[in-house]
Amino acid sequence: MITLWGNIFIPFTIITGLSCFRHDVVPEENPNIPPIAKYFCTKGRYEEVNPYLIEDILAVNRSILQPPAPQCHEIHLTAIIRHGTRYPTAKNVKKMRKFYNLVRSSATGTHNWLREIQNLWAMWYTEDMDGRLVQKGVEDLKHLAIRLSKLFPSMISEEKLRNGLIKFITSSKHRCVNSTLSFQAGLTSLWDIADVEFGHEMNDALMRFFELCHKFVQEVDSNPSAMTELDKFSKGLEMMRVQQKIADRLEVPYNLITDDMVEAAFYLCAYEFAIKTVNSPWCRLFDEVDAQVMEYAIDLKQFWKRGYGYDINSKSSCILFHDVFSRLDKAVKEKQSGEQVSEAVTVQVGHAETLLPLFTLLGFFKDTDPLTSANYATQTQRSFRTSQMLPYAANFVMVLYDCGGGDFRLQPLLNENPVAFPGLTNQQASMPLYQDVKQHYSDLLNGCDFETECQLFKGPSEV
Ligand SMILES: *[C@@H]1O[C@H](CO)[C@@H](O)[C@H](O)[C@H]1NC(C)=O
Ligand SMILES: *[C@@H]1O[C@H](CO)[C@@H](O)[C@H](O)[C@H]1NC(C)=O
Repeated sequence: MITLWGNIFIPFTIITGLSCFRHDVVPEENPNIPPIAKYFCTKGRYEEVNPYLIEDILAVNRSILQPPAPQCHEIHLTAIIRHGTRYPTAKNVKKMRKFYNLVRSSATGTHNWLREIQNLWAMWYTEDMDGRLVQKGVEDLKHLAIRLSKLFPSMISEEKLRNGLIKFITSSKHRCVNSTLSFQAGLTSLWDIADVEFGHEMNDALMRFFELCHKFVQEVDSNPSAMTELDKFSKGLEMMRVQQKIADRLEVPYNLITDDMVEAAFYLCAYEFAIKTVNSPWCRLFDEVDAQVMEYAIDLKQFWKRGYGYDINSKSSCILFHDVFSRLDKAVKEKQSGEQVSEAVTVQVGHAETLLPLFTLLGFFKDTDPLTSANYATQTQRSFRTSQMLPYAANFVMVLYDCGGGDFRLQPLLNENPVAFPGLTNQQASMPLYQDVKQHYSDLLNGCDFETECQLFKGPSEV
């Protein structure tokens, strides 16, 4: 059993380079933040992605935006936003309770943190919480709305809101609807608006396209054999080591700690932190090396289920892709014919599963090699990291600038950081000409038809 792999564990104490982000003012050791909090993937806090927000949740740095000329001004903004922090789903609550019961009944270790779990911590998660937005999630969206309005004061403005120039579209899930309402509440409280209600449109075809794409549902989402890489990794040596270390810390037999138990343990630490901002005793079950393995397992799943693993994953978002570009086109046309832009701002609220296929379609976070069960060791510097890409309230913003004389520019921002469209290399700064962006994505703009891509069986003439 001890092969090459056995030796590979030792160098993993190297902490992967996540410090390349803006003004990293936070001290390394904050006792209230679990050292493993930056590995929580889609259960992570937005503040871990932009740590300067820990000090000031409304901090905005406008000089990150650098239009090529002073006369450039924003004419359209689309924000696609994931819902805020939420409760676990019923399925995960069940797993967490099972693990909690095991720890209470069978753990014989004598650590203080273990006594704390056994004697002081109470299982407070219930199945009826079923993924609902928590108070922290309400705050996530309120604060994001205020920061975006500070970053783009001419776009997300009181005037535009009152004039109905900010349109809200949401997934029908309660956590998304409530996130949309929270975003609006952030703006109305900022501008002391008490006399008006702002509506929203529910649109699952746009924000939950993944459920309606038959090919994706059949071939990936409900096809267990699509997840073989995850299955292999879950049974592999790295994961086995995590299980053994948890069993050792609890002093229970190895065979009691299953894949589900390890997952539940990780969730318990992650949810306690995301929801209540506490560094709970559950977090003591993992060291940083373990958390990196957990992060990889979750990234592996997202890679094959929503990312580059299968072509249909990204193609399922064709409908959202065209929706965004048709609005950009419309804004340019209206501007060129001297009219006011009719849809100045669109705020669209959905899920991690909404954003990831779109990121993938656009080519973001693509590494040279695919993530597999066998290349954990060589993927430590990968860009495909859901902890960085998809925390709660993750957002993708596209801002269209008019620089005069037919010069339109498109600036994408990921989680409030300006980024460049991958592959658009001949552009110097990150604010490329809109026409170059369209040229870059011309195959998708001329194709990427949701109906065609998502149909299960092609007729003989189309094969
Ligand atoms: C704001 O952003 C600019 C450009 O990225 C950077 O040079 C500057 O240090 C930032 N300011 C603060 C206060 O972080
Ligand atoms: C949504 O928000 C409303 C009021 O703001 C609250 O009454 C309701 O319980 C929330 N629903 C969910 C599912 O979070």
